[in-house]
Amino acid sequence: MHSAYACGKLYIAGEYAVVKPGGRAVIVAVNRGVTATVSDAQDVTVRSDFYGSKPQSVCFDASLSARVALRERDYAAAAIMVVERLRAARGVAQRGYELRLVSNLDNGTGYKIGLGSSGAVVAATVQALTDFYGLGCDRGTVLQLAIIATADISVRGSGGDIAASLYGGWIRYTSPDRAVISAAYTAGGVLAALESVGWRSMSVRQLPAPKSGSLLVGWTAKPAATEHMVATVAADQSFADTEFCEFASASDSNVEMLIEGLADGDYARISGAIARAGELLRELASKRGAEIETAQLKKLGEIAVQQGCAAKTSGAGGGDCGIAFASTHEIAQKVLELWVEAGITPLKLAVSEGCGEDFEH
Ligand code: PMV
Ligand code: MG
Repeated sequence: MHSAYACGKLYIAGEYAVVKPGGRAVIVAVNRGVTATVSDAQDVTVRSDFYGSKPQSVCFDASLSARVALRERDYAAAAIMVVERLRAARGVAQRGYELRLVSNLDNGTGYKIGLGSSGAVVAATVQALTDFYGLGCDRGTVLQLAIIATADISVRGSGGDIAASLYGGWIRYTSPDRAVISAAYTAGGVLAALESVGWRSMSVRQLPAPKSGSLLVGWTAKPAATEHMVATVAADQSFADTEFCEFASASDSNVEMLIEGLADGDYARISGAIARAGELLRELASKRGAEIETAQLKKLGEIAVQQGCAAKTSGAGGGDCGIAFASTHEIAQKVLELWVEAGITPLKLAVSEGCGEDFEH
């Protein structure tokens, strides 16, 4: 039996800008996630809360497309397929297995709370299945395979959620060119995709956690569709759009400020950059006519700011979570109380331990 765990994530800064290849973000991995377990079986089946209680059969055609037919845009199937293709390319024989996926990234009643599940599902599945087949993939290769699988479904996501899932802690992430990687995968298979020039702009670097202050997370009970939001906000996938480029370059500089603040343990610089990241997102949303900050997210931010915290939406917005950074325990408690009064659910999360490794191409 081979098990792998992948964490959920929260964006601290750099949302949307990181969608552009080479764009930067600071992301944290949280202490909730998805566990994938692969055990020997006759056929290939997937059992998961995501699909109801019955195991689903997976069949492969000659081109090794997993025809899972569980639902459209199936991330577990995309992950299985990428690993099966790598196994075939390495000349390893196919085996039967049951893949079991267990998640605690919901609110306990199956309701998504914006901590990311597709990225964690793919990351955990790729890790467990490459272990099962003994393919000897290091963390960086698992990250690449998980991004290839995800990009096969949509190239819109930056892959930052997957990097946070696999590396843990606080990370600086720059995104690869998923369109180039995906084209290589379609044309030349998984080995060509792994060798693609699209990876040149991807990096993952561990960052020190803030030495003081506490990170607060509030959930606004409205799930958001990240891909739809990205399609609205960064519609031009060639990223030639001046308005978007201006936003992205301001965001990239701000992300570097945040990183310097973290390196120096400078609370003021960290909270300044978090507030600025929120401001940049608001400007972008108004230019694009997108509702990144819903009424509840706005309230979440206002309450925190009134108590002297920096606050912003986290991730694509349009619902899900917002974050605040509080200087003292007392302020943090006050913000959490006021959030509850306003109908915002504080999420008791901790940032998970970082793995101590970086990815540099
Ligand atoms: O809404 P989330 O937490 O999945 O974050 C999305 C962040 C974006 O930058 C908007 C998209 C991405 O994949 O990076
Ligand atoms: Mg979201």
